[in-house]
Amino acid sequence: MKHLVVLISGEGSNLQALIDACQQGKIAARIAAVISHRADAYGLTRAATAGIETKTLNPVGFASREDYDRALAALIDRYPLSVIVLAGFMRILTSAFVERYAGRMLNVHPSLLPRYPGLHTHRQALANGDAEHGTSVHFVTDELDGGPVILQARVPIFAQDDEQILAQRVKTQEHAIYPLVINWLLTGRLSLRDNVAWLDGAPLPAAGYAAD
Ligand code: GRF
Repeated sequence: MKHLVVLISGEGSNLQALIDACQQGKIAARIAAVISHRADAYGLTRAATAGIETKTLNPVGFASREDYDRALAALIDRYPLSVIVLAGFMRILTSAFVERYAGRMLNVHPSLLPRYPGLHTHRQALANGDAEHGTSVHFVTDELDGGPVILQARVPIFAQDDEQILAQRVKTQEHAIYPLVINWLLTGRLSLRDNVAWLDGAPLPAAGYAAD
């Protein structure tokens, strides 16, 4: 049996999609633990409702980012682990942490990377008058939101959209593509080699699967 550890900070709608996908057999794994850096993350309630072990690791009291990430790794390593899934985890990770789990850690970012790394992606897409927006699942590397993209999903932007509506449209796509990619990694179809994502024995293009 393979195991996921999911890191969250908030709402946890992606976490819910993963819980459902595990229950439905769409992800060949169970979630060993859900870890949040905030005690008030609603995702913790979702996990507890599903009978999944939860932990909160509050950054207050840690002298440095390195210290926090060391404690986070020690906590993660208490669980059986196949893949670490970042699902709205709003902390920048240190190089040592990223290195420790290289090739075994995925993130979902709400933009069509390399467009809009960082925060407020929906706001930026609207302000720039973009006709489309989307989401990217990528391997986590040292570069913030800069690891190799595995799969993207696009959504249209309509004239009357606001940030909230657009965020929800993007999340609906995230809930569909994230379980898929996680399962590719778990089943050995996907890997990270020399900073390139490989799927089924071939390197993926810069914008991920089916981007060409
Ligand atoms: C998602 O939009 C994801 O792309 C980003 O943070 C958000 C998390 O949402 N990394 P939720 O907590 O899964 O609802």
